[in-house]
Amino acid sequence: MGEFLLSGKSNQTYLDTAINGNGSEKAALTLAGLDRLRKQHSDEVHIIEIGPGGGSAVNAIANSLDKNEHLRDGGLHVSFLELDGIESNKLHIARQKIGQYATTSFHQGNAEQTNEIFKDGADIIAASAVMHEVYSYGDGYHSIDNTIGAITNTLNPGGFFAYRDVFSVHRLSQHERTRHVYDRESWVRFSQLFLSHYLKEATHPYHRQEDRIIFEQDSKRIDVDKIDAVRNLSIDAPVGLLREVQRHYITLRDHVWRDGTLGVKPILEGDGSNDWLDVRRGHKRVHFTQANHDPLLAALSETGPDESRIIDGDIFDATTDELLIKFLKDAAEDETSESYVAWQDWLKREGAETYTYMTLNKFIGSVAMQSFIASDAKKILLPIQQSDVQVIPRVYYNRFLERTLSNPLPDGKQLVLFEAVDTDDKSSKNKEKIFQALETLDEHCSRETLAEMYTPIRKVFSNLSTNQSQ
Ligand SMILES: C[S@@+](CC[C@H](N)C(=O)[O-])C[C@H]1O[C@@H](n2cnc3c(N)ncnc32)[C@H](O)[C@@H]1O
Repeated sequence: MGEFLLSGKSNQTYLDTAINGNGSEKAALTLAGLDRLRKQHSDEVHIIEIGPGGGSAVNAIANSLDKNEHLRDGGLHVSFLELDGIESNKLHIARQKIGQYATTSFHQGNAEQTNEIFKDGADIIAASAVMHEVYSYGDGYHSIDNTIGAITNTLNPGGFFAYRDVFSVHRLSQHERTRHVYDRESWVRFSQLFLSHYLKEATHPYHRQEDRIIFEQDSKRIDVDKIDAVRNLSIDAPVGLLREVQRHYITLRDHVWRDGTLGVKPILEGDGSNDWLDVRRGHKRVHFTQANHDPLLAALSETGPDESRIIDGDIFDATTDELLIKFLKDAAEDETSESYVAWQDWLKREGAETYTYMTLNKFIGSVAMQSFIASDAKKILLPIQQSDVQVIPRVYYNRFLERTLSNPLPDGKQLVLFEAVDTDDKSSKNKEKIFQALETLDEHCSRETLAEMYTPIRKVFSNLSTNQSQ
């Protein structure tokens, strides 16, 4: 974890700016859980948010409490759990805002110890974009399992775990193999520079013989370090790894836009970021500012508010790709260049993170099984309703990926609301809930995952364990 604290991810700007968007999406499942609890009882509800970052979820929850009186009935306590040494001004402001409707408390510690920190339990535990950090900066899957166990042992029976993260892939496993061909110089250069770092430095799950990564140029197999930046590149690999390449390309673009290295800065938050021409197709006009006057960009764009310019998003993306080629070339060849420094900075911050650690099948399956094991078979965390599992596409990114790659993997977010089902409760209501959960699970899980869940689910229906528990 020390490495994480030293990295640029803990700095104020990162927390406050880079991750402070999409608040209502981050809050949606917490609010759905709260709504269901309010319909069941009128006791105080305790919500814990793990890794609140810049507080965008709590801000959105406060806005919703403003408008929905019934969500406030009975009282609310909101706790925040953050890694030691990480605190954000914006979280502080959001905490004051929700303070109108709830008591709050701030705790420092690791998600893996949630149950030791919150000995009095909780009704809802929420987290967004935290598990991939637990995985990357902790001890891989072991830390994820510990975190799921700690969350389970904190949640009261009937409570909820609301989780949101980067969408993985539409496959049952990220180890399924596929092939991507990159015929754009920016993508070839990026894959070469990124993968030669990532495969050596990152905590990633692609170490098995079946996960081997095959690079080919001109039909010849080559080593990652021998990739020629100006020839088409084919990569045959686990689909999850190719998803990582795509995802990291987008985070690099974002990073060099924001820090000014490319000399053009799109407006990524607020009104200027949502000037849609066709929202379903992800087509928008980009509002941007420029460090140096570029006559071509000036000719292709029009004047916008506050010194900004407005341009078709497709043209802006193509321009960025051209600028990225130069950036990546300098980063690879000239250690004295600004690009080299910016690349190293990004590598340190993002380049060893594994985002797409689990498909929905694997994630739902692991949460179910780990919760059953960690609670000594007393609870199982399951999504119950169809709406408890959601995939929200990133339409602007997907448009860019479709226009740039021959077989892109869709980008988006995955959201799951798990209920802590009490496996000792043999009531017909609980059985009905399990039936409903089975329908939802059937949509997202493989036969193998469902077979694994057979024992815990069977427990709710078993007369033998009813007798034993009486
Ligand atoms: C990518 S940020 C997401 C922030 C916020 N939830 C959001 O969606 O905007 C990850 C957050 O998780 C926190 N975090 C990472 N690993 C953690 C751990 N093991 N225990 C508790 N918090 C952790 C980080 O400090 C940071 O606030």
